[in-house]
Amino acid sequence: MPTINRQFLLQARPVGLCAPGDLQLVETPVPEVQDGQALARVKFLSIDPTMRVWMMDADSYLPKIPLGNVMRCFGLAEILESRNPQFKAGDKVIGLVGMQEYAIISASDSRGFQKIPPVPFISDSAFLGTLGITGLTAYFGMTDIGKPEKGETLVVSAAAGATGSIAGQIGKILGCTVVGIAGTDEKCQWLTEELGFDAAINYKHADWKEKLAAATPKGVDINFENVGGEIMNAVMDRMNLHGRIVLCGLISGYTKNSPALGHFSPIIVKRLRVQGFLVTDYLAKFTEAATQLGKWKVFGKIKDRETIVEGFEKAPEAINMLFTGANTGKLMVKVAD
Ligand SMILES: NC(=O)c1ccc[n+]([C@@H]2O[C@H](COP(=O)([O-])OP(=O)(O)OC[C@H]3O[C@@H](n4cnc5c(N)ncnc54)[C@H](OP(=O)(O)O)[C@@H]3O)[C@@H](O)[C@H]2O)c1
Repeated sequence: MPTINRQFLLQARPVGLCAPGDLQLVETPVPEVQDGQALARVKFLSIDPTMRVWMMDADSYLPKIPLGNVMRCFGLAEILESRNPQFKAGDKVIGLVGMQEYAIISASDSRGFQKIPPVPFISDSAFLGTLGITGLTAYFGMTDIGKPEKGETLVVSAAAGATGSIAGQIGKILGCTVVGIAGTDEKCQWLTEELGFDAAINYKHADWKEKLAAATPKGVDINFENVGGEIMNAVMDRMNLHGRIVLCGLISGYTKNSPALGHFSPIIVKRLRVQGFLVTDYLAKFTEAATQLGKWKVFGKIKDRETIVEGFEKAPEAINMLFTGANTGKLMVKVAD
């Protein structure tokens, strides 16, 4: 059994991107497993925009991480030893493992960990992406909030990311014309040439708003919003009467002191319905939705990519990659084979 654990502790709250020293690498002894506990080896860390929100000096849907604590992080781990009847050695689980190499799962935490089944043609890491939180977010945002009708126009921001790329493909499956917004020409090419988006617009080009207008000649019925700020405003200006905004995330504000605000007048003028949601609202339906996503993936109706950063010590830099657009598809850190 391992004796030394490496962990990243939150030492300082970042200003802007994470700076060296905001997360501090420490070595601690691996504690002995007590009754009701299990010890797990972390294999993958899921790198999620919400981690940057948890680092702020403010509570959100979860309390802020206290300084000096292990950085909160979702991930995939394998049980090494268990004194909890819910787990046995060799089980693979996903849950809030923390940014560390070994996690003790306490009896009270154990309900937050889900065992992942071995599924033919599906890699374990897919349970952090397409069949995990980001795929499920796309699924529920589209099917329960966006509720597209055939022939409607859907715009997705951060479209080449883990959530956006799946949301757009679900839009295609449900019969929409789908336009993605992303930050590089390569990402835009991936969206149109491989994922089947009808158009993709690089928001870093000066004329992107004109291109958005040209790609949405019948206006926009559904906006799957991941970014906020200027991008959300530009899409809002294209919305049709009674359009729906699936407010999934506002990443452009997560590294700033001020939130990513949008202008509200189109909501009144166009009688828009704006609905925020958290994927955890749908916990009871996760298995059913993951099964559907798995079928779409296996039958090639949904394609995905993973950006995998090798090495536990690179985890803090990986958080920044989300905000510089260095990932395509699901971003994760591989901690162990
Ligand atoms: N509501 C929920 O339950 C829930 C659950 C999961 C995720 N989310 C939200 O969904 C969104 C996507 O999350 P994800 O995990 O799938 O991450 P992701 O999309 O895989 O990665 C983030 C992407 O956002 C884009 N981006 C970053 N800063 C930007 C900015 N200032 N302006 C425009 N684009 C920017 C970057 O791509 P470009 O190269 O295109 O800029 C980057 O690759 C986030 O807002 C997240 O908070 C919500």
